[in-house]
Formats: sequence, C-alpha cells, structure tokens
Amino acid sequence: MPVLGMLRASFAEKQPFAGLTIACCLHVTAETAVLVRALTAGGARVHLAASNPLSTQDDIAAALAAEPAVTVQARSGVDRGSYYEHIQRVLDSAPDLVMDDGCDLVNTLHEARAELIGGVRGGCEATSTGAARLRRMAASGSLGFPVVAADISATRRIIDHKYGTGQAVLDGILRATNTLVAGKTVVVAGFGPCGSGIAERARGLGAQVVVTEVDPVRALAAIMQGFRVMPMRAVAPSAELVITATGSREVVGPAELAALPDAAMLANAGHFDVEIDVAALAEMAVEVNPGVRPHATEYVLADGRRLILLAEGRVVNLVAGEGNPAAAMDTSFAVQALALAWLAGSDSGPEARGRVLDVPAAIDAEVASLALAALGTRIDALSADQLAYLDSWRLGS
Ligand SMILES: NC(=O)c1ccc[n+]([C@@H]2O[C@H](COP(=O)([O-])OP(=O)(O)OC[C@H]3O[C@@H](n4cnc5c(N)ncnc54)[C@H](O)[C@@H]3O)[C@@H](O)[C@H]2O)c1
Repeated sequence: MPVLGMLRASFAEKQPFAGLTIACCLHVTAETAVLVRALTAGGARVHLAASNPLSTQDDIAAALAAEPAVTVQARSGVDRGSYYEHIQRVLDSAPDLVMDDGCDLVNTLHEARAELIGGVRGGCEATSTGAARLRRMAASGSLGFPVVAADISATRRIIDHKYGTGQAVLDGILRATNTLVAGKTVVVAGFGPCGSGIAERARGLGAQVVVTEVDPVRALAAIMQGFRVMPMRAVAPSAELVITATGSREVVGPAELAALPDAAMLANAGHFDVEIDVAALAEMAVEVNPGVRPHATEYVLADGRRLILLAEGRVVNLVAGEGNPAAAMDTSFAVQALALAWLAGSDSGPEARGRVLDVPAAIDAEVASLALAALGTRIDALSADQLAYLDSWRLGS
C-alpha cells in the first residue's frame, strides 16, 4: 500500500493528529492495520472496534493491540451484544475524531453517549450505506458534528468501486465455481461504478454481457460502452450467470427465478443480501444442497432445474474471495486519512457541525498524485500561458 506508506511518512513529519484521540469502527483487516499505523505515526492515539461481527482477522487485531498507541476491541464471531459493547468501550476514550464504516459508531455515540458529541471535531464515513444513514441524521437535525462522506470521492469510485470491486467480484465467483466465463451470457444488474466494473471484467473474460438498469442515463451509458441492455425479466431465460450490484432489493425475484435456465448461477455484489430473493428461492426449491462447492448452494426446483446461489446472496467478493485488493484499499484509506487530517486541522465552524461534507477536491488530487508517484508515472503541468488562457473569457477563435 504505497500511498498510505507515503502518507505515513508525511504524517510522521507533520504530526496532524498530535495529542488527538481517534475512535475507529472499521473491518479489522491487514489493510486497516496499515491505515491505523499511518494515523498513529501522525501523533494519534487510536481506539479500534470492528465494523462487522464476522470480518475481524484475529491475528491482525492481536498485532495491532500490541502497539503502544493502539487499543483494539474486536474478535471474530462475536454476538450482537459484544459487537456494541466493543463500540461503547472505544467511545470510552472520549474521541476528538471518529472514523466509521457503516455509521454504527456515530449512531451509538449520538444515541447512547450524547455527552461526548461536543468534544468531537468531526468524522469520516467509508461506505455509501453509512453515508445514507448520516444524511438522514443530518436532515433530521440529529448529527452533532461534521462528517466527510468518503464513499463518493472520485478516486474511490474509480479505483476502489470500478476496478477493485469489478475484479474482486469476478475473482470471488471464479473461486466459488471455477466456471468458464467465456461464451456465457452474464447479466449484470446495475451500471453504477461497481456494476460497470463487473460488466467490463466479465466482457474481458469473453462473456456476452447484458446490463439491466432502472436509470435511463446509466442504461444509455451501458449501450454506448457496447453492452446490451434489457429488463431482467426479459433476459432471465438466457442468463447463465446473474450478478447484482444495485443497492436495491429483490432485483432477482420469484418471476425471474422461475424463468432462469437450468444451472444458472446467482451472485450478489451489493452491500446487503437483499438483491437476490433468497427466501423465495428457498420456498421454490424441492431440494437444497449446500456446499456443492465452497460458497455454492444448489437449489433444485420442482421442474428439475437447478439454480446455484453463491455466498448465500451476500457480497460475493468478501465471502468467497478476499475482498477488494489492497492496492484498491490503499487509495480509499488514503482519502479517509487525509479527510481526517483536514478535519483535525480546520476550524470547520458551527455551520459545518451537523453536516455531511464531500471529500474536498484537493484531497482527491493529492491521493491521485501520490498513486501516480507510486506507479512512477509523471504527467504534464499547465504552463503560465495555458493557465492564463484557461482563466480568460476574452480569448476566442
Ligand atoms: N462488493 C463490494 O466490495 C462493494 C464495494 C462498493 C460498493 N458496493 C455496493 O454495491 C452496490 C452498488 O454500488 P455503486 O457504487 O455501483 O452504486 P450506485 O448507486 O452508483 O449504482 C447502482 C446502480 O443500480 C441501478 N439500480 C437500482 N435499482 C435497480 C434495479 N432494480 N435493477 C437494475 N438496476 C438498478 C441504479 O440506477 C444505479 O445506476 C451498493 O450496494 C454498494 O454499497 C459493494
């Protein structure tokens, strides 16, 4: 993770978090450990809880807990009660800054530890689901400090969602099935950054890719990029592999399940396990054979057709694979670290308290510049004449 490595060196010199306490609620993974080390190099004391009861890598938690400026409250496989108890313990540190992934920390802080709100300078949220919760909090006047929504930064959408998720989803599907993608009809539901990345990678493997959408602009974009666009119901009879990436629910419902051909595979890349109607599938099945391969369950229907559900309909790249590659997490976490450093150093003023903020463009540009430097790629710079030309409205043809 070279970008975080460069940030760590710069934070060690500039000490943006000197004397500050950061409460984090993140997946406790190797990539997160690299992020935490960058924050502590910048002078922070970090208290870390897990953002999912199942995602903690216990060896990473133990390694981080051994570091002097870090405490970790996380263990893989905890129940819901322990999950929230860990968040409460992290909040006992009375943080100056918070970094969240899904809004459980910020939510608990507001609901159960309101006495801490005034001491928090600001926070950063990693996911679109968390950012959506924060926006609802802000709209109802309940959010007590500014939070940067890092999910919609330009670098994150391109590098992490499009290329990271695009590749990792195909990787998870291949690990679970070892299927030959070439020649298959692959249906990708949703043509956002995730879906477009998945569609491109499936096409790269030789699939005939059909996109389904509800947004006319995104549907048009898919057509311009050479994909066929059809309603899910119409394409279902020829779909050999369906991948959902919409953030919506029941994109593959009973009618689509009834139309799929024998041996069709179903995978989900969206945040929650609601995009494929797993309950309807179970109801339609006369026989369920879990574990026909790791992370693959066979549902035999009354007419003899078999449908293969991958990863129980949960995020296939995280369940059947290793999640997005570290190189993709590198730039995402760099955006989050810089956003926090920006909040630590800026007096956002009372008008920013209670607002969900965009990632400042300068942070995106800095992360992209560091990523280019890590790749050894140099780019041109505008000359003084070019800058003057671009600034002027007087010059025409
Ligand atoms: N698996 C991962 O690692 C990972 C990474 C990032 C995001 N996500 C999740 O993936 C999902 C998509 O992310 P995104 O950034 O591309 O989101 P997005 O909102 O930009 O794009 C989703 C697209 O799906 C379309 N859509 C909505 N309902 C639909 C339906 N019923 N049928 C067809 N299309 C429909 C929308 O019009 C939109 O164009 C979200 O749930 C997000 O949280 C997963």
